[in-house]
Amino acid sequence: MQTRLFFTGIFSAVLVFTALPLHAQAPAAPGGPGAMPSPKNLQVLPKDISHQDLIKTMRGFTGALGVHCTFCHTMGDFASDAKPEKQIARTMLRMTQEINEKYLSQVNVADAQPEQKQVSCGTCHGGHEIPAAFVPPPEPARGAPPAGGPPKA
Ligand code: HEC
Ligand code: HEC
Repeated sequence: MQTRLFFTGIFSAVLVFTALPLHAQAPAAPGGPGAMPSPKNLQVLPKDISHQDLIKTMRGFTGALGVHCTFCHTMGDFASDAKPEKQIARTMLRMTQEINEKYLSQVNVADAQPEQKQVSCGTCHGGHEIPAAFVPPPEPARGAPPAGGPPKA
């Protein structure tokens, strides 16, 4: 009986620990067991963002750029601005917000699906640290402009 309880205890402790990033909703009781520290250095994202939304946003960054958290963050200190990549990411956040709010909000293409109406980090980065240069496929022979380029006006 004692042993069984002991193991159940360990098991739930592990479960709680591994499930923490998904379940911990900020603001957790300050200083309580398993409490996530509130963000100290948000300059672009809303200061009252929930822990869940913050981590979702961060996972969006890693997926969009094909990187790990440490691409932008100093190990063990997420609030630190020591890495230039983090500052670039803030510029990118502001740029992406402005593209969506200022420009794409004026456009409403009927064929565009909801997820196609806005740009995100992944629209440009496509899983790369630096967006790949787009090289259009070679033109089909038929209808191609004559060698030497299009006729000059
Ligand atoms: C592409 C760069 C980038 C990547 C990758 C990234 N982050 Fe961030 N992170 C940022 C930026 C930028 C901020 C600050 C946002 C702001 O100023 O509003 C931030 C803020 C944070 C904060 C808040 C820190 C504080 O106290 O202010 C946490 C926690 C965090 N990130 C966790 C993570 C985790 C966990 C990962 C990996 C899953 C991750 N980040 C990946 C750029 C990144
Ligand atoms: C409109 C296209 C576009 C969007 C949207 C975009 N980026 Fe970028 N990003 C670029 C380009 C282009 C560069 C390279 C700029 C340069 O080197 O001058 C870059 C560079 C970066 C870098 C530096 C990479 C390195 O190797 O140092 C980071 C970090 C970054 N972007 C993060 C983000 C994040 C996070 C988002 C979403 C919030 C985002 N970007 C959205 C186009 C974009």
